[in-house]
Amino acid sequence: MITVENLTKRYGSFTAVDDISFEVTPGSVVGFLGPNGAGKSTAMRMMTGLTPPTSGRSMILGRDYRALPNPARHVGVMLDAAAQHPGRTGKEVLHLIGMTIDAPKARVEQSLELVGLTPDEAKRRVRNYSLGMRQRLGLAGALMGDPQVLILDEPANGLDPQGIHWMRQLLRAYADQGGTVLLSSHLLHEVQIIADELVMIGRGKIVAQGRKEDLLGAQGTRVGSLDNERLSEAVRRAGIEFSGDRTGLLVKATPEAVGRIALEAGIVLTELHTTGSEGLEQLFLSLTAADARDAAAA
Ligand SMILES: Nc1ncnc2c1ncn2[C@@H]1O[C@H](COP(=O)(O)OP(=O)(O)OP(=O)(O)O)[C@@H](O)[C@H]1O
Ligand SMILES: [Mg+2]
Repeated sequence: MITVENLTKRYGSFTAVDDISFEVTPGSVVGFLGPNGAGKSTAMRMMTGLTPPTSGRSMILGRDYRALPNPARHVGVMLDAAAQHPGRTGKEVLHLIGMTIDAPKARVEQSLELVGLTPDEAKRRVRNYSLGMRQRLGLAGALMGDPQVLILDEPANGLDPQGIHWMRQLLRAYADQGGTVLLSSHLLHEVQIIADELVMIGRGKIVAQGRKEDLLGAQGTRVGSLDNERLSEAVRRAGIEFSGDRTGLLVKATPEAVGRIALEAGIVLTELHTTGSEGLEQLFLSLTAADARDAAAA
């Protein structure tokens, strides 16, 4: 269980994390999604005791991270997969972690197996690892203490599509056994595959949160036409909420309702369907676009 309450971090007059609150319950994989610079890493550093919050607090298993005895046995943390010592082999890296946190010796092999690094790969030096192998090793390190909670910053960064699916399965199985997972990403696509719930953050603030299905389902109909400008006018006249870009509109109504509006206005449609994954994408883009504009104006 992770509980974040009004967590805030200011650097001078700049607010990197702005009053965020959310919970991650056992059995769930929550994706912490936001564009570059949104405040994900800063929030995770506060959760894991590396940066003191300006105000608010976060608790893991009901306690402040720093108050946990031997925290790595409760929380697996992966904040920067690139930080591993390049001259050591993967196996050595895990041995050292095991010694630091007093994990049983057999845990090294178990962790390697969990993340799918072969004995041959484990003997190579980290500097010769591919990006994907580094991520797997980072995850193995987080799993060394057999923790109930995982906090992973951009764990899927650099993984190929197969690797992302592999990670989904690993984290899903971990959560099904009662584990709690919070992972960050700046890529919607990654999070969409891996996480069940989402917390979206933009410029330090939470802009949307909830079950992935709900966030997807709340979107409505995607429509494209030969005259999107006139179509948006027609939708606006009908009093229906929508957002739009050059390629089409996202309308909070059924495809039938949108089709009728277009028919009455005599507009030729080129696309008309309920939104699936692109709905969430639209939401993410609109959130981040608004944030980018605000930032530019400020
Ligand atoms: N020590 C610091 N001093 C000043 N500003 C900081 C400090 N640490 C982070 N920031 C600022 O806080 C903001 C959030 O940074 P953070 O690294 O948390 O973003 P992020 O969401 O992890 O982005 P990314 O997807 O690029 O990893 C950025 O504008 C960053 O410059
Ligand atoms: Mg980051």
